[in-house]
Amino acid sequence: MSDNPRLFEIFLDVQRGLPRQGPGSDESTIKALSLCAGLTDKPSVLDIGCGPGMQTIALAKALNGNIAALDLFQEYLNELKESAVREGVLERIDIRTGDMSALPFEAGSFDLIWAEGAAYIMGFKNALETWKPLLSPGGFIALSELVWLGPDPPAEVYEFFQGEYPAMKDVNSNIDTIRESGYEPLGHFTLPDADWWDNYYTPLEAKLPALYEKYAGDDEALSVVDMTVKEIEMRRRFPDWYGYEFFVCRAVN
Ligand SMILES: C[S@@+](CC[C@H](N)C(=O)[O-])C[C@H]1O[C@@H](n2cnc3c(N)ncnc32)[C@H](O)[C@@H]1O
Repeated sequence: MSDNPRLFEIFLDVQRGLPRQGPGSDESTIKALSLCAGLTDKPSVLDIGCGPGMQTIALAKALNGNIAALDLFQEYLNELKESAVREGVLERIDIRTGDMSALPFEAGSFDLIWAEGAAYIMGFKNALETWKPLLSPGGFIALSELVWLGPDPPAEVYEFFQGEYPAMKDVNSNIDTIRESGYEPLGHFTLPDADWWDNYYTPLEAKLPALYEKYAGDDEALSVVDMTVKEIEMRRRFPDWYGYEFFVCRAVN
């Protein structure tokens, strides 16, 4: 995301109306939930960086508890509200606009914290440490994070992510970070390649012709669209070198 307001507006336009704002699927959300062994049947849940909330809805359907769903951007939360009404789960979702680095909740408020594709915004370690006090004793955290899947990636993909996410690490380094941050790792898995496409890159790619037409001659806007094309191209060419890893952990008190 860009600090330049115009570029950010274009970014929002590119991302507008997608089922998700990052890789994932209901199947992976439920698989991660199944790793939370011993979770109460009516947990209090916080979904951080919920975006349009596909995973919020999946959690609301799978659990009996209440879910606070928080994102910085109202536009995504409006999309979540529409889906929650459609799916009949709005009464158990507390939709909040807010900043993940200054969360307006009391210590020990949640049995489960969820963050798909969002912890990187604060930094993986910083997010784990900052959010831990919000968990009840022995509470769970489930989060997905962009990772390198093998050593020595090809220069082209390495350089792309040095620009996009230089803090990106491999799975074992993230597990070390989880332990150092006061959690016991319970399990982890790599999101299947379909999770990148079905709810994210395929609908995003379908928008590209209209975006090129809309912004024809506007080099600043086109630079954002071009970057999206480059990101999708990286995924198509180098799917074995990087991925999203879902980590499920329990707070050690
Ligand atoms: C990669 S998207 C993931 C969205 C959603 N969890 C999903 O998987 O579809 C990251 C989300 O974090 C939100 N976000 C960015 N900065 C934030 C902040 N400081 N506080 C809260 N949410 C933020 C974005 O608006 C976006 O919805």
